[in-house]
Amino acid sequence: MSILFINGSPRRQGNTATLGDRLLTDIPHTTRQLADYRLNFEQDQRETTQLQRDLTDEYESLMSTYFAPASDIVLGTPVYWYGMTGQLKVFMDRWFDSFSHDFPFAGKRIYLLVVGADQPEIKATGITQAIHHSCDWLKMDFCGTGVVTADGPQDVANLAILPPSCQALRQQIQANIK
Ligand SMILES: Cc1cc2nc3c(=O)[nH]c(=O)nc-3n(C[C@H](O)[C@H](O)[C@H](O)COP(=O)(O)O)c2cc1C
Repeated sequence: MSILFINGSPRRQGNTATLGDRLLTDIPHTTRQLADYRLNFEQDQRETTQLQRDLTDEYESLMSTYFAPASDIVLGTPVYWYGMTGQLKVFMDRWFDSFSHDFPFAGKRIYLLVVGADQPEIKATGITQAIHHSCDWLKMDFCGTGVVTADGPQDVANLAILPPSCQALRQQIQANIK
């Protein structure tokens, strides 16, 4: 079992980063910040003679070094305009390249963390939908979303306890990796 936390926020030590740390306290894991990676936009090569693959950035190394060996992957994103950040969206768009080359997505367990300032549990449900459907398409197991309302960079650090949705997610991770 190996657990990977992917932070989709440009704030490397902001709320999403802190939430990932707190969710996975005492659970061995690796963290990757998408902000540290050069990721090109997805190109749709389906009607061309080009390969559905881009080897000019750091996507493939992120996937082969960290994503491929992980059994359980926590994706974290702040809410940006009621959706996920561009960083996470670009990263997920590129999954199509991997899918086109038989990347072993199937069976991986995906957990989602969402942090937003404006009623994210009501107004940012589209993020969960997008990731849930994407997991279904790639035969990954979507295991749920932990949502936190937070805005200033220390808000999650200052929470006495995590909200119930995050506690439930943590319990699920612990049960899955036993
Ligand atoms: C460009 C931008 C757009 C945002 N859009 C939303 C939004 O639509 N809904 C919301 O609830 N919060 C929104 N926020 C607030 C962030 O989600 C919030 O500050 C979050 O805690 C940031 O997490 P981080 O510290 O991990 O980056 C936005 C913030 C930025 C910078």
